[in-house]
Amino acid sequence: MRASTDPGVATAERYRAFAEVEARGMSACYERWAAGIAADPATVALIDQLPAVKRQPNLVFSAARLLGAVAGEYPAFAAWLREHWALVAVTCLTHATQTNEPGRCAVLLPALAALAGPLAIIEVGASAGLCLHPDRYSYRYRLAGGSESAGGEWMLHPTDGPSPVVLDCNVTGPVPLPERMPDIVWRAGIDLHPLDVHSDADVAWLEALIWPEHDDRRSRLRAAVAVARQETVEIVPGDLGDQIEALVARAPAGATVVVFHTAVLAYLNEQDRNRFAAQMTRLPVSWLSNEGQSVVPGVLDRLAEAPAPSHPIPASAFILALDGEPIALTQPHGRSLHWLG
Ligand SMILES: C[S@@+](CC[C@H](N)C(=O)[O-])C[C@H]1O[C@@H](n2cnc3c(N)ncnc32)[C@H](O)[C@@H]1O
Repeated sequence: MRASTDPGVATAERYRAFAEVEARGMSACYERWAAGIAADPATVALIDQLPAVKRQPNLVFSAARLLGAVAGEYPAFAAWLREHWALVAVTCLTHATQTNEPGRCAVLLPALAALAGPLAIIEVGASAGLCLHPDRYSYRYRLAGGSESAGGEWMLHPTDGPSPVVLDCNVTGPVPLPERMPDIVWRAGIDLHPLDVHSDADVAWLEALIWPEHDDRRSRLRAAVAVARQETVEIVPGDLGDQIEALVARAPAGATVVVFHTAVLAYLNEQDRNRFAAQMTRLPVSWLSNEGQSVVPGVLDRLAEAPAPSHPIPASAFILALDGEPIALTQPHGRSLHWLG
């Protein structure tokens, strides 16, 4: 686990790691805030009043922004945090980091469309379930170098016409870009703490979880929430390993059951990851994982056997794997997809 999310690491060190590794190049505001806290023992002492698992920069910053902290320089933020600490602390205790990024559907879609339908899809670690509607979004795949039609674009729309949500994704490698949407006849999710797209408070939390400068993601989130509100999808509360077998058993007969997850298994300890991987092997399902490189048991080892990409793999890249076999490298928010061939 990385230092910023590791409860065993001292708070100042967690915030320094967050500033230097996660925020740098992604959010100038969060980089300033995290670096400021790392060098500010008084604010570290406030944060240390929280249980260790609740001291994560992403949680504290999202809680502060939910309550009105404005993106800006560190001294103003530190003063704001001192003044509002009691409320921020309660918000951290009652909330969790569960960013829901519909953009990830762009990297899942080619793999879903290549499976024999109709499909019954189950997302474990679904948050509010915005990735459970891949067939309701429009896609604009930009074909970059390495692809046969480099420089072109590939649009795909829901069967009833263009969606208000358009997901952009740069693709390289021999991606099997789909001609039509997968036929999804049933969908459901599992989450420890499902968020409800119909709840304004939950949606406000989802917005606060998006980093300050990422306005494109915030507008996409709002549009995806409007799409998701058109249909109620069940998200079973509970641990994915405890709930998955019963939910798979409820999928309609005759459909290919696909269990998928993105940015979830990092939350599990090694034993639980192994248990879940064994369940995926045993159950009659296709298993699509999109996770950090060393998260899904065995996947990184198998990546070494796949055709190597022509460029170095960024440390932040996720591996998309089907039934444990790597098929693509993906940008963590779904902005790009490199198919391994
Ligand atoms: C970072 S969010 C990702 C949400 C969604 N998959 C996406 O990509 O937008 C991780 C989600 O996994 C859930 N989660 C973490 N551990 C879990 C577990 N053991 N069982 C079920 N859900 C879990 C969290 O509650 C959170 O909603």
